[in-house]
Amino acid sequence: MRALCWEGVDSLAVRQVPDPELRNAHDMIVRVRRSATCGADLPLLGGRLPFVAAGDVLGHEFVGEVAEVGPEVRRHRVGDRVVVSAAVACGSCWYCRQGLHSCCDNSGTAPAVTESAWGQPTAGCYGQPGAMGGFAGSHAEYVRVPYADVGAFTVPDPVSDDRAVFASDAAPAGWMGAELGEVGRGDVVAVWGAGAVGQLTAQAATLLGADRVIVIDRHPERLAMAERHTGAETLNYELTDIPAELRERSGGRGPDVCVEAVGAADGGGTPASLAARLTGHRGDGEDPLAVREAVHACRKGGTVFVSGTFTGFVHTFPLGAVMNKGLTLRSARQHGQRWIPMLLDRMARDELRTEHLATHRFPLEQGPAGYALFRDRADGCVRTVFNPEG
Ligand SMILES: NC(=O)c1ccc[n+]([C@@H]2O[C@H](COP(=O)([O-])OP(=O)(O)OC[C@H]3O[C@@H](n4cnc5c(N)ncnc54)[C@H](O)[C@@H]3O)[C@@H](O)[C@H]2O)c1
Ligand SMILES: [Zn+2]
Ligand SMILES: [Zn+2]
Repeated sequence: MRALCWEGVDSLAVRQVPDPELRNAHDMIVRVRRSATCGADLPLLGGRLPFVAAGDVLGHEFVGEVAEVGPEVRRHRVGDRVVVSAAVACGSCWYCRQGLHSCCDNSGTAPAVTESAWGQPTAGCYGQPGAMGGFAGSHAEYVRVPYADVGAFTVPDPVSDDRAVFASDAAPAGWMGAELGEVGRGDVVAVWGAGAVGQLTAQAATLLGADRVIVIDRHPERLAMAERHTGAETLNYELTDIPAELRERSGGRGPDVCVEAVGAADGGGTPASLAARLTGHRGDGEDPLAVREAVHACRKGGTVFVSGTFTGFVHTFPLGAVMNKGLTLRSARQHGQRWIPMLLDRMARDELRTEHLATHRFPLEQGPAGYALFRDRADGCVRTVFNPEG
């Protein structure tokens, strides 16, 4: 089959690779109909994560059609249209039973790596380096789906592929930021990042009853899209003193909930916010610039939820503000299995619309060009979506 493979730093190519095969009784094979880029791919693309290897197939946000099922698969039949959680999880370990699927004890196939880095092994994920399970990604004609009854969900008929594809990763990540950030009725919520994850966090916050939602970024097209589709207010961090403006819009206190949907990928290359420039705060490596600003801006006793991806150590983290302001700091990789059925229901009822995020659609053959657009945020690109069928 054809697949989009990582070849080296900033280099991708569509290659012929072996077809995936059922390896155990709970696996199924899915023929991919749509597969989207994600901000989490950018550090991989740039070769900034260890263990990414030439030939790795990228992609973890996808919808497709069941092509083959293992003998123990109960919930799916050949021909079903399914969306698959980006997180691979067994469904039966202690963590999966708590709904913490991205912390699954069994689906990370190189547990020694994550265990030594983080103290405990975590779940696998499609299209990520060997340390995250080494599961081949979805930018391909076919993908092997382990634990099929746990990770794959039938897409209701009214939900288009272009809408459903985001139920795989960006929508559960967005929902998680709002729900685990404990957004409640009447809250003021600030979201850093107007990518797909930030925009879907804003939508989730509104659905959970927030009074005001404010999305922060520097790309005017992304901010305009957030305003149009989520009803949020927006701020451009290159033009605004963000903490001061957020205080102004929250009765002088600061937002109740601050969600960071930026991650380390932007730490190095993005111009600093006004606040960061004024305080001279720039770090090396994984710079938690937006986390720092969220901690600074959050009201006392509020919650900061980090949805953005970090892998190692960060510099200049304002632990003093977290402590003295009595903040709750939370984070996670999304536990898709916990939220996807509810998100698909909302999509079917038209309460949650996501297809506008697919700003650019390409056949798989144009994978390298599609990623370049997404990486550079050129031409208003929010997500490139590949269709391996052409
Ligand atoms: N927790 C999860 O399970 C999960 C799931 C999906 C993605 N992610 C992560 O979430 C983050 C966002 O994902 P995405 O796909 O929306 O990424 P994206 O790259 O499309 O968007 C990130 C946005 O952040 C903006 N940004 C950069 N610096 C900023 C700053 N200082 N203040 C405000 N905005 C800033 C960028 O301009 C960009 O628009 C990434 O780190 C990604 O890896 C996490
Ligand atoms: Zn992702
Ligand atoms: Zn598990």
